[in-house]
Amino acid sequence: MASVAAEHVYKNFGKQEIVKDFTLRIEDHEFLVLVGPSGCGKSTTLRMVAGLEEVTSGDLFIGDRRVNDLPPQDRDVAMVFQNYALYPHMRVYDNLAFPLRMHRKPRAEVDRRVREAARMLGLEELLHRYPRELSGGQRQRVALGRAIVRDPLVYLMDEPLSNLDAKLRVQTRAELKRLHAALRTTTIYVTHDQVEAMTMGDRLVVMNQGVVQQVGAPHDIYRQPANVFVATFIGSPAMNIVRGRLVREGGEVRFAGDGWQLRLPEPYASAFSASGLEEALMGIRPESLVVDAEGAEAQTPGVLEAGVDLTEPLGAETLLHLRVGDDRLVARVGAAATAAAGERVRLRLAPAGVHLFDTATERAVA
Ligand SMILES: Nc1ncnc2c1ncn2[C@@H]1O[C@H](COP(=O)(O)OP(=O)(O)OP(=O)(O)O)[C@@H](O)[C@H]1O
Ligand SMILES: [Mg+2]
Repeated sequence: MASVAAEHVYKNFGKQEIVKDFTLRIEDHEFLVLVGPSGCGKSTTLRMVAGLEEVTSGDLFIGDRRVNDLPPQDRDVAMVFQNYALYPHMRVYDNLAFPLRMHRKPRAEVDRRVREAARMLGLEELLHRYPRELSGGQRQRVALGRAIVRDPLVYLMDEPLSNLDAKLRVQTRAELKRLHAALRTTTIYVTHDQVEAMTMGDRLVVMNQGVVQQVGAPHDIYRQPANVFVATFIGSPAMNIVRGRLVREGGEVRFAGDGWQLRLPEPYASAFSASGLEEALMGIRPESLVVDAEGAEAQTPGVLEAGVDLTEPLGAETLLHLRVGDDRLVARVGAAATAAAGERVRLRLAPAGVHLFDTATERAVA
């Protein structure tokens, strides 16, 4: 097992900069998730660590060793690919044994490691089958098993669950977490799915257009997104972002959106006021808009009125699509809320989950 470090790593394809100034240290034993939208450079970054893609500039380390010029087979990493392929003419046992045989491991050791990996992944009963005789989920586990048997310094996983249906994804995601808890092998896991990222990672690296946007523990990123991109990428439904003016008048602070105003309650009033901004983007998590059953006065700080455009009942909760003046918001409310399309509802800002961003830089204002 080992740490992995990247220092000012760039990757160009032709004239295009695909990964820009990637600097990060991944600790020994850590499960790090690289998350971002399609095409942001996740696979390219992972492939550079694996040695399948050259680094244009910067340095890569595995443990204390600079690996820029080390061929993939000498890096002692095991990669699970986005589009894995099993050898169709080999039984599960031989698919698992293949990487070990490639490395000329003794027969007894191959057998021991194959059976151990099979036990961990629940494949013991399937060792004699061919890939075509397996379900998608079982095949995926064999692909993971081929990485696990190797006992490498680092696992590199590129969307290893992407071929599974929703239920199996959730199941396999939990299995992978258990596996990591048992093996404790340093893992870099790539996904574009923010739920997978949140649930699996010790830390997340959020990327966009080849640039690291934020690094941190899932809940820290959720609670304190560094910018509008992270704020709207992590969390579903996405954080509401509305543009408006900050009006300080008669000891109160109001946020003036498009055709509506909101008196800000503490602690937001002080925080927004201290920013010194005239114009800002306000971010509100959908769960931070609470339907106010008490029917507080519309002028109370933190209370706003909205028209309901649409409701989406999801079982445990309901999403309300709202119109406030000419702005639109989504609120996530309890299933018991009875608001219906066409009605007006009174909402209250919860004491957390409201953020302020600079309109020009889109960076969070402390
Ligand atoms: N060999 C290549 N030559 C030229 N451009 C490439 C090459 N490989 C990748 N790219 C480009 O680099 C960008 C990043 O690709 P990458 O595969 O790293 O994205 P990703 O974040 O893994 O996306 P996805 O979630 O869709 O897998 C894309 O715009 C892609 O078209
Ligand atoms: Mg990819």
